Amino acid sequence: MTEHHPKAVEILRRLGIDPARLDERIPPFDLVAFRLEQAERNLAKRPGEFENAKATHPVALDWVRRYIEAPTKVGSLLLSGRTGRGKTWEAWGIIGACAEGLAAMGRGCYWKTISHPTFNAAMRPGGDISGEAVLDDLMNIDLLVFDDISAGLNTGWTAENLYRLVNHRWEHRKPTIYSTNLPPADLAQAVGDRVLSRLSAAERIVMGGPDRRANAA
Ligand SMILES: Nc1ncnc2c1ncn2[C@@H]1O[C@H](COP(=O)(O)OP(=O)(O)OP(=O)(O)O)[C@@H](O)[C@H]1O
Ligand SMILES: [Mg+2]
Repeated sequence: MTEHHPKAVEILRRLGIDPARLDERIPPFDLVAFRLEQAERNLAKRPGEFENAKATHPVALDWVRRYIEAPTKVGSLLLSGRTGRGKTWEAWGIIGACAEGLAAMGRGCYWKTISHPTFNAAMRPGGDISGEAVLDDLMNIDLLVFDDISAGLNTGWTAENLYRLVNHRWEHRKPTIYSTNLPPADLAQAVGDRVLSRLSAAERIVMGGPDRRANAA
């Protein structure tokens, strides 16, 4: 007779079902299978343009390996390069590899992605959803992609919230994948010295080559 999970037995009994009569129908729990399915379901939310994204940069691949081995010990990443060089593609590739890698070890990967302009829109006072709740979620999610940092306005409360997010994730050593179109000199101007100082702790990947969108046209 199969050993049932005690919680499953409790739930079934509460529902008036005798687990002993269901032996054949309660599958044994396979943590890796569950995590792989969970990863696949979450990755299905990728935008169509990036559904086949794979990380290829050697620094990114090395970072992914270290993340899977010790998710809280690895630092952040900063992808930079001009428009259309594949930064967002690489970031989605990294998320996919991290989610699958952790799942293969029976572990969950809780990730989110947001762009700087969308972040600002979510933080705008008077919106339907509380900006504080969104900020809290982004501060604490295990793995975050913050795309296009510097593409959003950075004055007043938008600057304050960006600083709170970047600082919180840096203080708590939460790995974050930032991307930007700007070279370091212009980044200071766009996000301020204190945000830049915390981004400087990240490993840097420079994406070069041609504008892939222009080439595809
Ligand atoms: N390695 C790749 N293989 C195939 N297609 C790619 C690859 N990298 C990027 N692309 C495609 O090239 C286009 C540009 O890539 P992406 O959007 O990642 O650029 P980006 O650097 O984020 O640009 P921006 O700074 O404007 O946001 C997209 O259509 C993307 O799907
Ligand atoms: Mg992009």
